[in-house]
Amino acid sequence: MSSKFVSTSLIAAICSGFASGLAHLPPRVSGDPQQLGHTQDAAFSNSFYSDGGAGGKVNGYNLLTLSDARIPGTGPMHTVYAYAGTRNNDPTQITIIADYTENPPFYHFSPDGTNGGVIEVDSSDSVKGDCFGPGPNTAMVRIPGNQTGGVTIWSVFDACQNPPVLQYNTFIEFNVLDPDTLNSQNKNIPAQRTVLRLFNANEPQYGTDGLATDGTWYYLMALDNTGYKLARVAINDRTNRGQYYFYYPSTKQWTKQIHTLNDNSTTLYAPPPPNTGIFGSDFYYSPYFQTWLLTYSPADPYSAKYLAVAYSTSGNPEGPYTFAGTPFKPATDPECQTLGNGGNSYLVHSQPGFDESGATLLVSWISCNTFTNMARLTWAS
Ligand SMILES: *[C@@H]1O[C@H](CO)[C@@H](O)[C@H](O)[C@H]1NC(C)=O
Ligand SMILES: *[C@@H]1O[C@H](CO)[C@@H](O)[C@H](O)[C@H]1NC(C)=O
Repeated sequence: MSSKFVSTSLIAAICSGFASGLAHLPPRVSGDPQQLGHTQDAAFSNSFYSDGGAGGKVNGYNLLTLSDARIPGTGPMHTVYAYAGTRNNDPTQITIIADYTENPPFYHFSPDGTNGGVIEVDSSDSVKGDCFGPGPNTAMVRIPGNQTGGVTIWSVFDACQNPPVLQYNTFIEFNVLDPDTLNSQNKNIPAQRTVLRLFNANEPQYGTDGLATDGTWYYLMALDNTGYKLARVAINDRTNRGQYYFYYPSTKQWTKQIHTLNDNSTTLYAPPPPNTGIFGSDFYYSPYFQTWLLTYSPADPYSAKYLAVAYSTSGNPEGPYTFAGTPFKPATDPECQTLGNGGNSYLVHSQPGFDESGATLLVSWISCNTFTNMARLTWAS
């Protein structure tokens, strides 16, 4: 690239990724989605209900978060993890990590907020007991160089207020062990909060709205009223809040100056309509498109959410990002009607770990706060 015989415009094109052959862009879906039904765990007689749905692939396992997990006739518990695709190579066949000595067996918090939830209350938390409300909407991401290590970042809410009030987000590390061994020992997935308060409520919630790694950095997306903002941290500096960098699209610079919340001049990507009620974002590198995708779930205006897709036109995580459309709109599980639970479907997540070629995309969504449904999209060539 430094050859003096190469024109400077070609150098610029190569460096921006333009000439590097970004494949198959823009992302467009081919044909109808393959409907896969809703998740089932034979250990629960295929009868449990849940909300939730962010995924992630670590140690060869596809993770799935389930919040408000419950069995028929019980109240909702806090978040649990399941491992998806554990039987017959079918993504809907899941293994819930549970304590089978309890009834119901889901891990849950004691009234003081301790005792076996996926993450536990610390004495320094601003909300305790049942008011401690982690929002499990971010995929788990691997720790490069550590086969079993995974990280995620969840925002913590005061769940005793209506609507729940954001406190800060928290950095969590996991040791992703074999699910059958964990269950045979009635052990939860080992987890530790390594930064109790990462970004405060008056700061963008970097990591909550998308988390990814390129093997060197963790990239963290934050969604505020103006759109998405981007931060990064070197893998080994991840627990050091002073080592986070923030990307300024206007100058194309990373600096340690944090963005101002809701300042549109530092926004990396502002979603065009449909853009109401967005949550449930996923950020990842697609080998198929040879670039970074940002998918998110807008509302219509509150039920029937879409999967919306944006992509980096440079091949780099810094973008710039372009909207590619809303290639998927979920249908509500037929059993919702049987249960009399109404017809809302929402929170469409990308689950890119199921096809590491990136040629297809597994999506999951929630039907009537009761089922995690799945479908497989095939990208156009
Ligand atoms: C991998 O990371 C997890 C989460 O931090 C940790 O529990 C585990 O001990 C690490 N494993 C190794 C071999 O360092
Ligand atoms: C930011 O918001 C202001 C006020 O609404 C608007 O005038 C301006 O065009 C916006 N800038 C960008 C980059 O969107």
